[in-house]
Amino acid sequence: MKSPTLCIDLGSSGTKIYQIGAGVVLSEPSVIAISELGRRKIKAIGIEAKKLIGRTVDGTVVSAPVFESQIEDELCATLMLENFLNKVTLKKLGRRPSVLFAVPCGADNASIKKFEKVLNECDIYNIHFVESPILTVLGSGIPLSDSNPCFVIDIGGGTTKIAAVSLGGIISGISVNIGGKSLDKMLIEYIEEQFDLKIGMLTAEKLKIQVGSLLERDNTTTIINGRDIASGKPRAVSVSSADIYPPIKSFFDKIFELAGMVMAKLPAEISADVRRGGVCFAGGMANFVGLDEYFRYSMGIRANVCEDPALATSIGGGIVAGNDKLLSRLRINRK
Ligand SMILES: Nc1ncnc2c1ncn2[C@@H]1O[C@H](COP(=O)(O)OP(=O)(O)OP(=O)(O)O)[C@@H](O)[C@H]1O
Ligand SMILES: [Mg+2]
Repeated sequence: MKSPTLCIDLGSSGTKIYQIGAGVVLSEPSVIAISELGRRKIKAIGIEAKKLIGRTVDGTVVSAPVFESQIEDELCATLMLENFLNKVTLKKLGRRPSVLFAVPCGADNASIKKFEKVLNECDIYNIHFVESPILTVLGSGIPLSDSNPCFVIDIGGGTTKIAAVSLGGIISGISVNIGGKSLDKMLIEYIEEQFDLKIGMLTAEKLKIQVGSLLERDNTTTIINGRDIASGKPRAVSVSSADIYPPIKSFFDKIFELAGMVMAKLPAEISADVRRGGVCFAGGMANFVGLDEYFRYSMGIRANVCEDPALATSIGGGIVAGNDKLLSRLRINRK
């Protein structure tokens, strides 16, 4: 099989494409807007399509075709990926590049088949599937060897991947359907309860990114707009980090509890290595202010976060794609 020239990380929130020799060439929201009738007519894609979420325009369907890291809408996923690939690569690489494709840990054959179908529709037949946690660690710049394992927590938009990995592969790992979008939903409910204000998903995400913090003393403030529950009229309120601390704390406590469960099952030597080396955090949610401090306080272990944690998996994919020996060790062998 040909060595891959591209790595694709088709995330629930964002698609990232890494091209060998060029680095990350695309990072866009995994969103597409198509016409309701002629389903193949694309109205907007990526960042422009995301702006349309919750703002229904007549005759337009806005789709986030990857849900909880799985393909939920095959047609939209195909149109979206085809469009992204055309944007960045096919012209330069020829029509049929070989691809390394990142899948969540423990992905079953049925979900891999769905990814394969979408890739085939995009004219890609040369595909190496690799479980994402090891890519995430390598892309975070953490040196790995068979005797030097690493514990990684990748909190994405739709899922959280928690795993202990070494160069030999995944020692123990889980993927759970909790991610940034779950926190956005929790914030919508919380704002409704506390402020009698109904807000949309985009506002909730903006609120989370602008003032969300795991430092209890943090008091950054922002203004959010929504619909007053009682009167139905538009209303704006000022919300601070402290105001939304309870749902944020409960979200991360749940993730840390799951991480604790994975850690508890590790062999003693590996457990000791994890305690010494700390935990590697990745995924867009690892950008959270105060994450390292709160993790150390809760778990007594150091947290390491690389510079752009949402890109770590695709960068790691690039590293593995350029190393035939490592790739043949890590690629999922399918019957
Ligand atoms: N600065 C930030 N602070 C807090 N959250 C952020 C920040 N930047 C991005 N996020 C959140 O990170 C999530 C997206 O992360 P990421 O791109 O790693 O997800 P994904 O790879 O598309 O999803 P998944 O791996 O779950 O399929 C979104 O929920 C987004 O709101
Ligand atoms: Mg991801």
